Amino acid sequence: MTKTNLSKDLIAWLIEAGVDEIHQDTPQNYYTLIEETLTLPKCAPAASLLAAKPVLRTTREIEESAQISAKESKTLEELQSALAAYEGCALKKTATNMVFGDGNPKAKIMLVGEAPGADEDRLGKPFVGLSGQLLDKMFSFIGLSRAANLYISNVIPWRPPGNRQPTPQETAQCLPFIQRHIELVKPDLLIMVGATAAKALSGSNEGIMRLRGKFRPYESPGLTSPIQSTAIFHPAYLLRSPGQKRETWADLLNIKRALNA
Ligand code: URA
Repeated sequence: MTKTNLSKDLIAWLIEAGVDEIHQDTPQNYYTLIEETLTLPKCAPAASLLAAKPVLRTTREIEESAQISAKESKTLEELQSALAAYEGCALKKTATNMVFGDGNPKAKIMLVGEAPGADEDRLGKPFVGLSGQLLDKMFSFIGLSRAANLYISNVIPWRPPGNRQPTPQETAQCLPFIQRHIELVKPDLLIMVGATAAKALSGSNEGIMRLRGKFRPYESPGLTSPIQSTAIFHPAYLLRSPGQKRETWADLLNIKRALNA
């Protein structure tokens, strides 16, 4: 085959493949360009172009980056900054504020809920809406308050749009941060508030009906010894189903007993 024939055949083949315009002499991988564009902030100054982070592509990469960044945090302040810099969960893009924690970080009791709602998103604090008011009331019955002896956070730090339940992927993307959060607070008692938190933190497939009212050890790699943990119904559920308040009252009395033991 002559050079001219080769070129003709090549051009014919390219036209057949849909290539009908020539832009430059050498080929360019536009997929690489797309990735670079996604990585870089628009109009970024030279220094930030060089410091740009790689794009996280797979679920595994995202979860690993969360684990590394959470594990590297040695204080709550560092963890809060690491979470604020984390780009692995899309909920961050639609939320107004990140909701990290509230109450006494030196408390012996830590409560962990599901995710912020509209009020929490607006104010940047966990459990400040209607269900938060009920939660405060419930714990005041057994002499506990966030001002003195409770610390509160959520599995997910950003509000899911429309208060929908977080997906299992979103939960997995944020889980290393709340696990580290618990390790750093190191409470004597961890209380999982509602089904989502109980499922995510206990790793159990049992529902909240079975998990509530029971005390089990909570373990994670950064803890030198297991923590006592239990689960209670979510106050939003109690607002919808006031008939379940009787069980919750029993759970609160058990918690009080466990603390005094
Ligand atoms: N529900 C939660 O689980 N967490 C909050 O912070 C508010 C409502």
